[in-house]
Amino acid sequence: MDRSVTLTAAVFVAAVLSQTNCSSFRLKRVSRAQVLGFDWKNCGQPDAPAVLKNLSVSPDPISIPGDLKASASGSTSVELAAPLAVNVTLEKEVAGFWVKVPCVEELGSCHYRDACDILNQLIPPGQDCPEPLHTYGLPCRCPFKAGSYSLPQSDFYLPYVDLPYWLTNGNYRVQGVLGSGGQELGCLKVALSIHSD
Ligand SMILES: *[C@@H]1O[C@H](CO)[C@@H](O)[C@H](O)[C@H]1NC(C)=O
Ligand SMILES: *[C@@H]1O[C@H](CO)[C@@H](O)[C@H](O)[C@H]1NC(C)=O
Repeated sequence: MDRSVTLTAAVFVAAVLSQTNCSSFRLKRVSRAQVLGFDWKNCGQPDAPAVLKNLSVSPDPISIPGDLKASASGSTSVELAAPLAVNVTLEKEVAGFWVKVPCVEELGSCHYRDACDILNQLIPPGQDCPEPLHTYGLPCRCPFKAGSYSLPQSDFYLPYVDLPYWLTNGNYRVQGVLGSGGQELGCLKVALSIHSD
């Protein structure tokens, strides 16, 4: 996986997970949910240092809880080291318009000062990276050296999760911009729809 792309994705997931774990209120229990129409693209400059080359996720729809297959590849031409800023913009389609979801309890359209710090909290230094990263020798903490990264198709199990109260059925798009020292390193856009009973 491209480091920058991989990192952007990892950081976004990490941020979402950490927030979900930390804020016990304003979460709702969902019995089942489905994620449909997952799509992604790079949104940085053509010469952006960090690029996602491939990200494939199946099946469509993805069931939560349920099994997921994913593969990814990307690269970064510069080392990604702390502090690594990530700006997330989350939008939801409401009556045909894209409406920005505000940052509430570190979730939504938020600005994270240092993604490396979030990764260190999720996966304390000294601990092995979670599977399947460990098997393929992929890093999960900063610094991410310049180079190409690739995750072969792997199986994941998505457990039951508590979703924020505002994460209702509908179409969403998320943009993550990765930056360091005022320079934009990479940008990733993801679109998906959520449907829960
Ligand atoms: C992306 O990954 C899929 C599934 O592994 C593969 O079929 C496809 O050729 C890859 N595309 C690129 C551009 O590498
Ligand atoms: C994130 O947003 C802040 C405030 O708009 C801006 O100062 C900063 O440069 C942005 N960082 C990135 C990585 O885009």
